[in-house]
Amino acid sequence: MNNNQIKLGLRKIVNPVGLLVAQKGEKRDATTVAWMSKVSNHPPLIMVSIAPERYVYHLIKETGEFVLALLTDRQESLALYCGSNTAYDVDKFHEAKIQTEEALFLKVPLIKDTVVNLECRVKDLHPAGDHVMVIGEVLAAHHDGEARKPLIMTDKMGTIELENKL
Ligand SMILES: Cc1cc2nc3c(=O)[nH]c(=O)nc-3n(C[C@H](O)[C@H](O)[C@H](O)COP(=O)(O)O)c2cc1C
Repeated sequence: MNNNQIKLGLRKIVNPVGLLVAQKGEKRDATTVAWMSKVSNHPPLIMVSIAPERYVYHLIKETGEFVLALLTDRQESLALYCGSNTAYDVDKFHEAKIQTEEALFLKVPLIKDTVVNLECRVKDLHPAGDHVMVIGEVLAAHHDGEARKPLIMTDKMGTIELENKL
């Protein structure tokens, strides 16, 4: 079995797309993620799989907290921007005019007009291959009950050559 066949097969796993948000002092980041899952109800746990070279990973490791904001089907350009630029080079919040509001428990901002914002405290970090599984305990979930459609990962978003569409 060749690796490309396996890679294409893995793309058949359907995931929602979100922004993984973290902040330490003046440093902040919102990184596009799709490799995520619910893990437990009691306590409420989620998992996001993140490559250790991502800027956002360092912020999460240092602060022990993050917000996972699930995007709507109208926020694809934001997902592509935050998934093809890095906070090593740019302030994504400034460049993409990301609107934020204060979280209840964390110093990390929430992202306005998303499907849901999950405030999470890091419970565990498990290295797995070329990624690290970040397990977060959900302290608060912000959603207004309005039926917003989630953005779902497509093959197009999975390609490496992403245009900057903003
Ligand atoms: C649709 C989409 C989904 C992505 N999902 C993930 C993911 O689950 N985990 C990950 O480590 N990177 C993922 N990426 C790649 C990061 O978003 C990208 O490398 C980003 O530029 C890293 O930014 P940072 O260095 O500021 O953290 C995804 C990118 C896109 C466009």
